[in-house]
Amino acid sequence: MKIIAINGSPHGKRGSCSYLIKQMFTECEKLGAETEVIRLIKHKINFCLGCGKCMSEGICPQKDDVKEIQDKIREADGIVYASPVYVGHISGLLKNFIDRCFAMGHRPSLHDKYAAAVSAYAGIGDINMVTDYMLNNLSGQGAYPVGKVCAYTLNIKVSEEDQEKARQMGRDMVDAFRQKKKFDWEKQAMASKGFKALEKFITERKDLAKEDYKYWKEKGWTDK
Ligand SMILES: Cc1cc2nc3c(=O)[nH]c(=O)nc-3n(C[C@H](O)[C@H](O)[C@H](O)COP(=O)(O)O)c2cc1C
Repeated sequence: MKIIAINGSPHGKRGSCSYLIKQMFTECEKLGAETEVIRLIKHKINFCLGCGKCMSEGICPQKDDVKEIQDKIREADGIVYASPVYVGHISGLLKNFIDRCFAMGHRPSLHDKYAAAVSAYAGIGDINMVTDYMLNNLSGQGAYPVGKVCAYTLNIKVSEEDQEKARQMGRDMVDAFRQKKKFDWEKQAMASKGFKALEKFITERKDLAKEDYKYWKEKGWTDK
């Protein structure tokens, strides 16, 4: 089993998100999983230019590190999104990456994978909103949601309770993979407002969203 974490904190090894990922991944490794951390700050990730070519042609014309990271997501069995809470939301680093993965959201393909979310904050704001955003982004693409941890941090110190939550999440992710836990994504997604809105967009604008429309037709997600 291969698990990757996409860390949207600019902090290195001494950062709280890095620390929580380490707690989680140490457990995963003990159980035989291979792990990799991608620190977005170390990569060239341009802003999305909104050209729409990912929807119409299935390619992004930008030449940077996004495709390489997306390929790692596609090859992994487990994916962890991590971000500190920045002004009530995920960091710009992670949001910028997620914007660039726009087409992956339109053409969900993570159905045989497992997802988790890690966050750290200083006590201000709605922590559920941040971890839910990350987890929903991955489970919206079909990945089975294993869990989420948002740790209160003081001078980068994380409580023993939150460290244990991260470790447990690591064990849960490997367990979910081994047990081949299933998530009835099609049933849940198709009933959701978001999926219906996406279907409306893709079918009404099939001239623009050509690649999306082709994918949805192949999958049988629309009869329009
Ligand atoms: C630009 C910026 C914005 C922040 N906004 C919030 C916030 O809205 N709520 C909060 O509780 N903490 C906020 N923090 C604190 C970080 O979330 C906290 O220090 C976190 O532990 C950092 O995690 P990291 O070391 O993994 O980057 C902010 C920090 C920075 C630098």
